[in-house]
Amino acid sequence: AHLWRGVIEEYRDWLPVTDATPVVTLREGGTPLVPARVLSERTGCEVYLKVEGANPTGSFKDRGMTVAISKAAEAGARAVICASTGNTSASAAAYATRAGMICAVLVPQGKIALGKLSQALAHGSRILQVDGNFDDCLTLARELSEHYPVALVNSVNPHRIEGQKTASFEIVDMLGDAPDIHVLPVGNAGNITAYWKGYREYAAAGLATRKPAMWGFQAAGAAPIVRGEPVTRPQTIATAIRIGNPASWQGALRARDESGGLIDAVTDRQILAAYRLLSAQEGVFVEPASAASVAGLLQAHEQGKLAPGQRVVCTVTGHGLKDPEWAISSAPAPVTVPPDAEAAARQLGLTG
Ligand code: F0G
Repeated sequence: AHLWRGVIEEYRDWLPVTDATPVVTLREGGTPLVPARVLSERTGCEVYLKVEGANPTGSFKDRGMTVAISKAAEAGARAVICASTGNTSASAAAYATRAGMICAVLVPQGKIALGKLSQALAHGSRILQVDGNFDDCLTLARELSEHYPVALVNSVNPHRIEGQKTASFEIVDMLGDAPDIHVLPVGNAGNITAYWKGYREYAAAGLATRKPAMWGFQAAGAAPIVRGEPVTRPQTIATAIRIGNPASWQGALRARDESGGLIDAVTDRQILAAYRLLSAQEGVFVEPASAASVAGLLQAHEQGKLAPGQRVVCTVTGHGLKDPEWAISSAPAPVTVPPDAEAAARQLGLTG
């Protein structure tokens, strides 16, 4: 039997750790790569979902956080800080707890999903709601880490990118080679940067014969990379990617250009349609931002940009339970019945 040990132990040779690094892990990674039957039928491609909501805190952030917190522990840090639209803070809070560190969190006031806020609270982090957006929070976090004894664990910390690249390794290990196309939602652009690094490293080592075209999708109201300039007041229902000035902008451009890929925008309406398709037809419940990858794939298909027969992986970045609001508000409320089989059967439409 093989017990999954977490991304540091599984991919130790590829990561900036030594025997002196205390490994702080929740056994993240090893997430499902799920064949997507409905998406494959609709596009004529072989589509898979990399289900990152299956990580310990419910998002891909855990891959980078295990490395960032382990390295912070190695350096003797007692406290860490991050800016977040919610998932980074949930992950930082959990891993800091494992390491016995204080975790400080800066979030845009009123703009993070309740599930994520509950995680940071449950793990006992020190949360400040900032009267500003994510970009303001990140500027503030950077400034605090420069002037006070607190380590920054946003993806501007290169250890985060190192950990997150392991998702590409897992995909190649599972499929036997890299896919033709890899599709991701893009917010602060750390993840697309990390995936591209992972694919490059595996190909350079001869473990993959090709590298995928990297396709990134931003929300239309928060699409600075697509527009070519920062967005001062980013807007989207996908709060995780409500970001106007991505820190890893250059990394995203590099991934796009070196891979022959693209970065485009999808509307909130498209995001919600993909969100519903994933939960109601594929059986995979993700948060709205995660559905941007699938919305982008469907858009490319409709625009004739997706040749059939290709192998495509879409990363779905966070679990649906993070942000249940959209699932609840877009479906009818459940009907109340007495504890009576006949009445229940009638309501369920089982009586013919
Ligand atoms: N999907 C989810 C669920 C996210 O939480 C994020 C980013 C992204 C996609 C975009 O990834 O920033 O690497 O391009 N969330 C960050 C946070 C900003 O604070 O949790 P990215």
